[in-house]
This record gives sequence, C-alpha cells and structure tokens, in this order.
Amino acid sequence: MSTELARRDFLARLAGGVAAASLAPATALGATERVRPRLPHLSLVGEDEAYWKAVRDQFPLRAGFIYLNAANLAPSPYLVSDTVADLTREIDREMSQQNRGKFSGLREYARTALAQHLGADPDEIAITRNTTEGNNTVVNGINLGPGDEVVIWDQNHPTNNVAWEVRAERYGFTVKKVKTPPAAAQPSDLAAPFLAALTPRTKVLSITHISSSSGVALPARELCAAARQRGILTLLDGAQSFGSVVVNLRDIGCDFYAGSAHKWFMGPRETGVLFVRKERQAALWPQMVGIGWQSAKDHGARKFETLGQRDDGAVSALGKAADFHATIGRERIDARVRELATRLKSGLQQRVPGIKFHTPVDSSMSAGIVIFALPKMDNAEGAKVLYEKNQITCAVSGGDFAGLRFAPHIYVSMQDIDKAVDAVVSLAANPPVAAAKAG
Ligand SMILES: Cc1ncc(COP(=O)(O)O)c(C=O)c1O
Repeated sequence: MSTELARRDFLARLAGGVAAASLAPATALGATERVRPRLPHLSLVGEDEAYWKAVRDQFPLRAGFIYLNAANLAPSPYLVSDTVADLTREIDREMSQQNRGKFSGLREYARTALAQHLGADPDEIAITRNTTEGNNTVVNGINLGPGDEVVIWDQNHPTNNVAWEVRAERYGFTVKKVKTPPAAAQPSDLAAPFLAALTPRTKVLSITHISSSSGVALPARELCAAARQRGILTLLDGAQSFGSVVVNLRDIGCDFYAGSAHKWFMGPRETGVLFVRKERQAALWPQMVGIGWQSAKDHGARKFETLGQRDDGAVSALGKAADFHATIGRERIDARVRELATRLKSGLQQRVPGIKFHTPVDSSMSAGIVIFALPKMDNAEGAKVLYEKNQITCAVSGGDFAGLRFAPHIYVSMQDIDKAVDAVVSLAANPPVAAAKAG
C-alpha cells in the first residue's frame, strides 16, 4: 500500500468515516451537534512493524529523519494538524461570534475526550496552554504562609521547582527539596526520601511523574496515597507521562495533574491540560480571571481557563488528538513506547563500552525517556554530529544528568532505534570534543 493510501485507509478506519468528514471545511462539521464518534478497536495489520509503519504514515515527517525528541515537542498527525488548519481557516473566513459559537461545542468535546483519556470527570479538566501554566496555577493558587512547608523533588522542571521557590520568597513558607538515589534498585528506594521528608507542617507534595532531566518515573500512586493519608495535597507534573503511558488519575489519586498536549500527546501546539480534583476546586484560586469568570466559577475546572481570547482552532482540535490515541489504544501506545525504549537501552548497553545511563534500565522506574552519557564526549557536539550525519534529533541534558536524551514515540520504527544505536556506537568510537571558542 502506498504511503498516501495507508494514510487514507487509517483515517477512514479511524472513526468509520467521521475522521474523513472532519477534514472537510468546518462549516460541514455541524460542530456543535457533533457527538464523540464511536471508535472501533482498530487492528490495522496486527501488532507488527507494518502496523507502526501505517501509524507513522499518519504524520508529515521528513523521510530519513529519526525523531527522538518527544519529551520536548512531538509532531501532530494529519488528523490533528488538518483540523487545526481547517478550523483556523474557518475563523478567518467568517469570524462572527455566531460562527465562532460552534467552537464551544468542540471545546467541550475535547474536555470530555481528555477526561476519558485521563480517567477523570470532564468537570475536573481545564484546557490550559501548557504544563507551565498548569503547574503555576497550582503553585500560585493554594493558600500557604509562614509555618507551611512544600516538599518538592530536585528533578522537577523549573515550573514545579523554581516556581515554588519564587512564591515562597513572597509568602514566607518553606520549600524542602528532596533528592532520590541515583541508582535506585526498586521504586520503594525512590519513594523513601519523600516519605522521610513529610512532616506535620507539610501542606503540599509536588512531584513529577516522569522526570525530563533523568527519565526516572516516580511511584506516583504510592506517594500520593502516603500524602493523602497525612492530609497533604499532591501536584503531579505529567508533562512526560501525558500521552506516553496510561494515566488513570482516579487510580493515581493525585489532587492536581498538569500536562502539555504538544509533547507525547501529539496534539496542537500551545494546548495543555490541568486536572483539579473536584474536592479541591473550591480552595484553589485561579491564576487569571478573564471574561466568562462569572459563569466559569461555578462550572468545575473551567474556572482555571478564563484566559481571554484563545486560539480556538488549536483548542478545538484537541479532541482529535484524543481520538487518535483512543483509536490506537492507550495501552498499545504505552507498550510500544516502552518497547522502543527497552530496545534502545539494551542495544546501547550491549554495544557501547563505558556508557553511563542516567535513566534506570528497569522499566518499573522509567518509560519512554532514555538519558545516557558517553565517556569523553561533549554532549552538544555529539547531538550536532547525530543531527548532521545521522539525521537524528535528540536533546542534550545537563546538570547531574549531563548527557544525551533520546525520547522515541510511536512514529519511530524499531529499525530507526537500531540505526540510532549504530550511530551512538560510532559516536563513542570517535567522541567529539567541545568546539574551540572563537576569539
Ligand atoms: C517535566 C516537565 N514539566 C514542565 C515542562 C514545561 O512544558 P511546557 O513548556 O510545555 O509548558 C516540561 C518541558 O519539557 C517538562 O519536561
């Protein structure tokens, strides 16, 4: 099957024709009347490489490139980017408030689809711009003052780390930063330092589901349960778990969860999600109060998204990204992401002498992110060589976890992983050093 045919076939199957209709101009959508399409449990061509090739064909990716940077930014499938483009054009074509009325229906559809994806109630979902905004809404929205304590992880992203410190400076509470052992043997080794840090003064435990700096996956469920027993609120930064692994917020039991749709979720850029558990909504102050507040304040987590004029095309296409995940299956995506990372780790482990993994090799403490360092190599130069010579895109990580970060997603093939391992083997044999500074 040609690439184009495979793409059309996939789209046609995606929603029994609903997806194809969605690519027509939005006027034909009957947007406000749309109901969530019934998605068949799709098995395109089986659980093999041909299936994942058909999945890759859903993306406008440059042939020959190996994209290992989902932890930073992931591409959207045509289904999503075409919808963003169509809806955006629809606004430009007729920007009356009457025409734009249909977008509120699409936004609510997206909210319901996101809630379903995350195991939450639609009223617990705010559609934000990104994880930065979600984290900061929580950091700045809880009443805290002198005598209170917030426990954070030293591997949190600055938006869940520095943001707490800046607020503490202003309001006089204490921030306690926990370090986890670099070579944990089991998840309980990662939990132990947090449990030891909690005191009767602790009001919030603010952690990261999967760290972008180390690739470590924390035992979130156990930590949230321990916090709940002590009456402590929990913020879980889900930037690296939303869309990559199965996330069931009811089961995890956190109070707040923030994510960005433009990473592993493969959704529109500058869209994100903030989960606020029902029982916590009344006590969490909004970061921004915009037009629509009077109505939003009594409608669950919607009170955290009165941000003024939004990019309605992008926000409305968010539901399509959720459809895409539902069609393939969250469990199948989770399993594939882990399979890719496992193959990568074992290939590197077997073939690269002296390699140091910052990410646990054990998949009970990691998921799709793999961070490693090579002896004597300058990481920025290494990433440059990989891009220029091997057409591999990855990230450079720094600090305690200095190295290269590979984050393969479902549009990456096993063959790509093997090529990436070959490229790292060559890199290790001839490690590039830092370029001499000009002048
Ligand atoms: C763990 C974590 N939190 C928050 C963010 C911020 O994400 P965004 O820039 O999409 O807000 C990132 C970005 O990489 C991240 O890895």
